[in-house]
Amino acid sequence: MKIGTVAESQSDEARVALTPMSAKDLAKLGHEAVIEAGAGAKAGFTDAAYAEAGVEVLPDAAAVFAAADVIAKVRPPTDAEVELLREGQTLISFFYPASNEALMQKAADKGATIVAMDMVPRISRAQKMDALSSMANIAGYRAVIEAGANFGRFFTGQVTAAGKVPPAKVLVIGAGVAGLAAIGASTSLGAITYAFDVRPEVAEQIESMGAEFVYLDFEEQSQDGAATGGYAAPSSPEFREKQLEKFRELAPDVDIVICTALIPNRDAPVLWTRDMVEAMKPGSVIVDLAAERGGNCELTVKDEKIVTDNGVTIVGYTDFPSRMATQSSTLYATNVRHMLTDLTPEKDGKIVHDMDDDVIRGATIAHAEEVTFPPPPPKVQAIAAQPKKDKPKELTPEEKRGAEVAAFQAETKRQVGLLAGAAAAILLVGLWAPASFMQHFIVFVLAVFVGFQVIWGVAHSLHTPLMAVTNAISSIIIVGALMQIGSGSFLVLILAAVSVFMAAINIFGGFMVTRRMLAMFQKS
Ligand code: NAI
Repeated sequence: MKIGTVAESQSDEARVALTPMSAKDLAKLGHEAVIEAGAGAKAGFTDAAYAEAGVEVLPDAAAVFAAADVIAKVRPPTDAEVELLREGQTLISFFYPASNEALMQKAADKGATIVAMDMVPRISRAQKMDALSSMANIAGYRAVIEAGANFGRFFTGQVTAAGKVPPAKVLVIGAGVAGLAAIGASTSLGAITYAFDVRPEVAEQIESMGAEFVYLDFEEQSQDGAATGGYAAPSSPEFREKQLEKFRELAPDVDIVICTALIPNRDAPVLWTRDMVEAMKPGSVIVDLAAERGGNCELTVKDEKIVTDNGVTIVGYTDFPSRMATQSSTLYATNVRHMLTDLTPEKDGKIVHDMDDDVIRGATIAHAEEVTFPPPPPKVQAIAAQPKKDKPKELTPEEKRGAEVAAFQAETKRQVGLLAGAAAAILLVGLWAPASFMQHFIVFVLAVFVGFQVIWGVAHSLHTPLMAVTNAISSIIIVGALMQIGSGSFLVLILAAVSVFMAAINIFGGFMVTRRMLAMFQKS
């Protein structure tokens, strides 16, 4: 079948739904590709590059609509584009059906099939088609870059001859796809990063990325992300109050706030209020990714960058993926190609629209002259939420001391017991074994004991450098080789020299590897 891609009609949209690379992959599925001239220009893909990948370049959108069986684009279609659809034709694009009902009905009436990329269910199998996630990932990363461009300082702390620079403090609100990408970018730039989310199960992910989870002193029933399709459920007014209280406390201290909190199909909750903005230091930056749905910050202006009276920059752009068009087009085109892979089960260039398939059913909003939105819940559970990890209970100083004493006593008891057992075992062996054996045996037992104690206390992440250094130290071969090198025999001399060479590699290599690996764990 022919897959056609048109240029995006919205003038500021730089993405394109087909790349030369994805066109080559589509050919492997038995499909041909056509594209409107200049469609990939803003994303850095020339017509020549498409032609080289075997894509036919057509002069305008109308020609593409007429030639193609499947139209792939990024933004929801305009009224005029839906008008161009014909019976049996398939359109794959973002659609946001809940807010585009009339257009959806019109497409259904025309007998076209609409596959909405924003409706791909969040189940493991569909991750490769999850365009919302791939775009949110880019938006999260770009939000940090945008914040950095508007922030007058380094992210990382530095001690230079010209003075000491404190690290920036970044707060990420909402740790979904965009939030986690923002946390990753922020920590890798060296900022002290805090993150908050209503789903406590993400605390571990946040912490594993080097950020600090902001805990609230509040007990609310864990929201089951799996039951809500992998998304959060609305929180109670009491919880929200606690949350705002915590944010108010953090506001004077943080330099950058990245807002990504959203519950699908709802307006963005206002979590960063006017007084919090006013409490921030001049030069601070807020990037509000939720601007599209009203913004998490009370003062956000959609699609604009404003500076408040107290010098806080608030960025409300809604086109972050488009600002990184080459990257986002590559990922989006791959998502579309994966969708087409599922729609072409035999890889024979024939589209089979299997409405029993969870992913295809979930994403299809119009088919066989009917509106098929909203879809039934997927049979497979959404990407499972981790069980709630309780915040460790705060202990009073007395309780802490008591717990420490009890732990020390238990450990002492255990060690005395072990020692007594070992002494009894050695005595037992000594009753029968010869004295020479016992001498070696005791050295062996002590070596095992000391070795075990030394290694047991080392963090797992440091085991590889430890191995490298023990390798270096244990190169006893060199001693033997040095003793033999003065021997009269030429053959022994050569062998000893080779042994010295090899052992030296082990020793110096071991120390070098250790040094390098330890450097990776050192915080600058
Ligand atoms: P997501 O659903 O994966 O993540 C949203 C997170 O917010 C979830 O972890 C949820 O638990 C959390 N959340 C919900 N209510 C909260 C509350 N009251 N307090 C704290 N956390 C709360 O969504 P995703 O894909 O990460 O997208 C995040 C936002 O970025 C959305 O608003 C999306 O529209 C926006 N976005 C913006 C783009 C732009 O160019 N500006 C581009 C792509 C996405």
